[in-house]
Amino acid sequence: MTDTVDRLLSELTLAEKVRLTHGATDTEGTATGFVPGVERLDVPPVRFSDGPLGVRTDEPATAFPASTALSASFDPELAREFGRALGREALARDQDVLLGPGLNLIRVPHCGRNFEYYAEDPVVTGRFAAGVVDGIESTGVIATPKHFVANNQETARASVSAEVDERVLRELYLPGFRDAVDAGAGAVMSSYNRVNGTYTSEHGELLTDTLKDEWGFDGVVMSDWFGTESVVGTANGGLDLQMPGISAEELFESMGAPGDDGDGHGDDREAQAADDDAGPDDPTDGFDYADGMPDPTTGGLYSEELAGAVEAGDVPESRLDDMVRRLLTQLDRHGLLGGSGDADEPEGAVDTPEHRDLAERVAVRGTVLLDNDGVLPLADGADVAVVGPNVDEAILGGGGSSETTPFTETSPVEGIEARAEGSGSVAQGVPRIEDISLFDAFEPDDGGEEGDEDASDASLDAAVAAAEDADVALVFVRDQATEAADRETLALPGDQDDLIEAVAAANDRTVVVANTSGPFETPWREDVAAVVAGWYPGQSHGSAAAAVLYGDSDPGGRLPVTFAPEAAYPTADERRFPGVDGEAHYDEGLLVGYRHFDVTDAEPTYPFGHGRSYATFEYRDAEAVDDSTVELTVENTADRSGRAVVQAYVDSPAAPDDLDRPPRELGGFASLALDAGESRRVTVDLDERAFGRYDAESGWTVDSGDHVVSIGPSSRDRPLDVTIGR
Ligand code: NOJ
Repeated sequence: MTDTVDRLLSELTLAEKVRLTHGATDTEGTATGFVPGVERLDVPPVRFSDGPLGVRTDEPATAFPASTALSASFDPELAREFGRALGREALARDQDVLLGPGLNLIRVPHCGRNFEYYAEDPVVTGRFAAGVVDGIESTGVIATPKHFVANNQETARASVSAEVDERVLRELYLPGFRDAVDAGAGAVMSSYNRVNGTYTSEHGELLTDTLKDEWGFDGVVMSDWFGTESVVGTANGGLDLQMPGISAEELFESMGAPGDDGDGHGDDREAQAADDDAGPDDPTDGFDYADGMPDPTTGGLYSEELAGAVEAGDVPESRLDDMVRRLLTQLDRHGLLGGSGDADEPEGAVDTPEHRDLAERVAVRGTVLLDNDGVLPLADGADVAVVGPNVDEAILGGGGSSETTPFTETSPVEGIEARAEGSGSVAQGVPRIEDISLFDAFEPDDGGEEGDEDASDASLDAAVAAAEDADVALVFVRDQATEAADRETLALPGDQDDLIEAVAAANDRTVVVANTSGPFETPWREDVAAVVAGWYPGQSHGSAAAAVLYGDSDPGGRLPVTFAPEAAYPTADERRFPGVDGEAHYDEGLLVGYRHFDVTDAEPTYPFGHGRSYATFEYRDAEAVDDSTVELTVENTADRSGRAVVQAYVDSPAAPDDLDRPPRELGGFASLALDAGESRRVTVDLDERAFGRYDAESGWTVDSGDHVVSIGPSSRDRPLDVTIGR
């Protein structure tokens, strides 16, 4: 293996080496990114494709559920299956590198890309990232965990500096990347933002000292698209591949994008950014994409400047060799240099029955039943009204680089109608909530006629009438989210809260099904009979919703992120989010998500880890098996099957210098299906980092004393305690 790479390195000319350090225009126009290879030496072209929710080329692919739906399953085995399916779809589309998974910690509930990420907790994040990476890599496709690191908001993402201390980085923001690297990721994508003043694409401490030297990462660090601000600085800092490596003009030309003047800031987007007073039907109103976009004209191109920098001695030749060696090593390892690769690599396949089934299974397994007064599951013959502004379309995902075009999709109405025995009524109720996307900025304005089209059907009266006549009213609501902008509010957009209130007043068996990128406000919570969080469910939206609502499948999901009123989150302070004077201060330190709610008086609406089953469970007989494993019995005490998600939280002894240690941290979890009356012994492996803390001087330290592990079905319901002495 190394022989091939060594031989190639000795034969490549300087110009050829540089050719392997940056992207170029894809000759076939199918890929998100492209490196042409070196034909003379049989180094093949390499194709890179987004993204975390499905493969994004110019052809359709399975539109899988959002990453938050996957992580809500609390089942990393499912993540591996998901990653393997993504890898097979990439192979079928001749792609060599997948630009995912996204795994930034959910620090800010408003972040426009939370649907591409896993959790507010590093252990959940790490286990899902590792599962997906392992699955992708098992197909011979290179996985690219992104965006390294502290890309926790989209507002000013291309310039904001995350001001965060080392301990917090180490304990919260870096572990997911570490786990992804340990799982075998062949590439890592740097983020757009700065960390403590330095762009991550040239952050030597992060890229070279931590990721490569300390963690032993021997893969490729690539930039995010146009996410470099220097040539010499990035090369010396540890960046190996500049993407897309071409100018914005060349990129847009290859994509045939209209309406752009080539500065990388689409003309329409510029117009929208300037137009804060766009009418209420303007889907982009309030979303300022320009603020989230990098400037592609700054930073310089490796294709133009790197060879000169090496010749001038500004970038050591050994560094250039290292950049090239890393890419070649990965190509060799993945069987792309003529060898066979070392995985049990499957054939490429797209839109198979297995992938369709998996897309639906993940949506079901991630669905979180937040509240239920007994209205769910629906009776087979129930007369159901299906209400909501977008009930006739599947919600595939949020906007931006993760958008996938599926072969098939099922809307809520189609899903419910296919399952319902009685004939129900359908009403839109309020104006449609438009999909928003970063790419809207590159499309000519179509005049917003969608809103007009809806007007006739969008009547609250029709929704109320439908609800009054039905046994049960299902109200499907949604948010709007996209890469390059953050949500302005956690309230549901448009008139959806009014719709819920009106329907709930007409029918006391009203069920709200929300499809969102993350937490949403529930001012009507007390007035409805059930609340379901379905995230962005992908192509199987309707069929997955029907399976859960009718109880054909148990809602397997638990919250990977705390739901609370927006003012109660630690990032409700402008200094922290979106930041002031170009800096977002991570002053909350370790107190992100449930760690914050555990030390304040503010009550979450729905705590981290919360979610109901249709069954009921008893937890008993917990004991420590060794100093990082606990075991307990879970019994299904109901007369129907269901899924329990066991969570174990570690409360470590106070450290002398450690005033802000969170009261408890998730150490491990397990998801298990139990038949009616079944009981089972469950083992939960606890992450070593949950016992420790990071000390800037001495690294990871476990304080001696009693570590109390409390176990239960959510972060706020932990009936069992086990003490582990260290
Ligand atoms: C920018 C996004 O931040 C990144 O996630 C994506 O992979 C690239 N664009 C390529 O589309």
